[in-house]
Amino acid sequence: MCGIVGYIGELDSKEILLKGLEKLEYRGYDSAGIAVRNEDGVTIFKEKGRIADLRLAVEDDVHSKTGIGHTRWATHGVPNQINAHPHQSESGRYTLVHNGVIENYHILQKEHLQGVEMKSDTDTEVIVQLLEKFSNGMTTAEAFRHTLSLLHGSYAIALLDSEEAQTIYVAKNKSPLLVGLGEDFNVVASDAMAMLQVTNEYIELHDQEMVIVKKDSVEIQKLDGSIVGRESYIAELDLSDIEKGTYPHYMLKEIDEQPAVMRKIIQAYQNEQDELEIDDAILSAINKADRLYIIAAGTSYHAGLVGKEYFEKIAGIPVEVHIASEFGYNMPLLSENPLFIFITQSGETADSRQVLVKIKKLGHTTLTVTNVKGSTISRESDYTLLLHAGPEIAVASTKAYTAQIAVLAITAALVAKNTGHSVDFDIVQEIGIVANAMQALVDSKEEMEQVARDFLATTRNAFFIGRNLDFCVSMEGALKLKEISYIQAEGFAGGELKHGTIALIEDGTPVFALATQKAVSLNIRGNVKEVVARGANPCIIAMEGMEEEGDTIILPKVHPLLTPLISVIPLQLISYYASLHRDCDVDKPRNLAKSVTVE
Ligand code: M6R
Repeated sequence: MCGIVGYIGELDSKEILLKGLEKLEYRGYDSAGIAVRNEDGVTIFKEKGRIADLRLAVEDDVHSKTGIGHTRWATHGVPNQINAHPHQSESGRYTLVHNGVIENYHILQKEHLQGVEMKSDTDTEVIVQLLEKFSNGMTTAEAFRHTLSLLHGSYAIALLDSEEAQTIYVAKNKSPLLVGLGEDFNVVASDAMAMLQVTNEYIELHDQEMVIVKKDSVEIQKLDGSIVGRESYIAELDLSDIEKGTYPHYMLKEIDEQPAVMRKIIQAYQNEQDELEIDDAILSAINKADRLYIIAAGTSYHAGLVGKEYFEKIAGIPVEVHIASEFGYNMPLLSENPLFIFITQSGETADSRQVLVKIKKLGHTTLTVTNVKGSTISRESDYTLLLHAGPEIAVASTKAYTAQIAVLAITAALVAKNTGHSVDFDIVQEIGIVANAMQALVDSKEEMEQVARDFLATTRNAFFIGRNLDFCVSMEGALKLKEISYIQAEGFAGGELKHGTIALIEDGTPVFALATQKAVSLNIRGNVKEVVARGANPCIIAMEGMEEEGDTIILPKVHPLLTPLISVIPLQLISYYASLHRDCDVDKPRNLAKSVTVE
């Protein structure tokens, strides 16, 4: 959560910072600010609200070639102008922006900052005040390193010293941060997307590093002051990947991209002979395991539930799926040779990362399935499988979910092949069929918009039911609807509703029922009858060949194991239109952020 940027060079920094922050807004959007430095000193602009509000507050006639900026998702202190970053030290000498959480800020405040009047309720202000205190008798670099050595928690920091016009100091621990390189300028950002406007050449930073960034040099230091050399890399991103283009929302663009993502995944995992291939070391790690433990949060957890079916049914390996935030302190008894699979679109989710840290301490092997190459969880795992879905910017995850399922299906099929399990379908061909089916569904937007109108226009709540794989997708459908339309929605196993929740069914309550699994099709139809008898308004989404008169949406036929890849598409679109009809902010729903980097 929170995004930071910094620029030092020859151009006016204001516009570069604001544009960068716009690209980082997915990380948090309750308040924002920039600090720019020129011969008059450091000027701060900050506002509660979006970058658009900040833009209005920034004065046109302030010019500067150095600056830092921040977009916030509040952790300590309510979202208001005072708690918005940048924060400044007592004398005004130091100004900084911070992404992360300083766990021991209270202790540090008590031990070192008695008598210092704090202006905000943030943990961040403690960092800048400590820095000023230690700068007495130390250089800024020394004082900064000393301050960093006292911090417990996560941070990505960009710092201006009003006495040093030619430098931005930055530091990183557990929160993402990159330095971007240019001709006569350098930049820093939480994410390459933020600075793609000016450069695509980046240097990755590691935890507990401090960097002295000038317009023509970048010096990385460890906290003991020793200098670290590191090569830069070219970010494989295109500006068009991160622009909305003609779409009104990123979510709609990302829903539409799903057929192409399926094809891209196949290409990415095919070798020169057009055979599917993943790293032998990954296959062998999975083969050695007597049980797989999938760890994830939110939508990625829902993809993990589908993945369990694949590894168990296709490859015959037992799997447990766990919510990351629970697993960390409530670890089950582990098998003798476990393999941990972390599923995370962003690769930065703090709940998942804290499990990874514990698992590594126990010495177990780890694999990360992620969309972001070089992300923290990917770097810290033994192995990585990439999703190849392209940047996902809308807070509501869509293409990453289907990409996660496709990559898990491919992996399970390859493991099965490797261990001599018979697989009675050609996964490449079946994913090709899925891509075509997805295309037909994303092309039927008018129909989906009408379903949203018919079922969700005025309702307070909605239920999603399904059995087996359809149950996994029901949970994802409910999450999608509630997070962007604020309609109370729950996903249930079809058979479970009658054990209590059916009490909530009233006249007109929408119940979305998925019927794609032949073995349980009579049972789910029975569950629909139960809710209809109590007044529910059922929307049945059935697979071609299993449809009955009166069903609302018929899904093109795909392999029964791959139905989650297509049954979710109408649910994504219906949620999108429900959000739109209710005038909600589709891409940036309230209280949320794309990358959840706090536990
Ligand atoms: O980046 P991750 O996949 O680890 O994120 C996990 C969840 O925060 C995420 O899937 C969240 O539930 C989605 N925004 C829901 O659409």
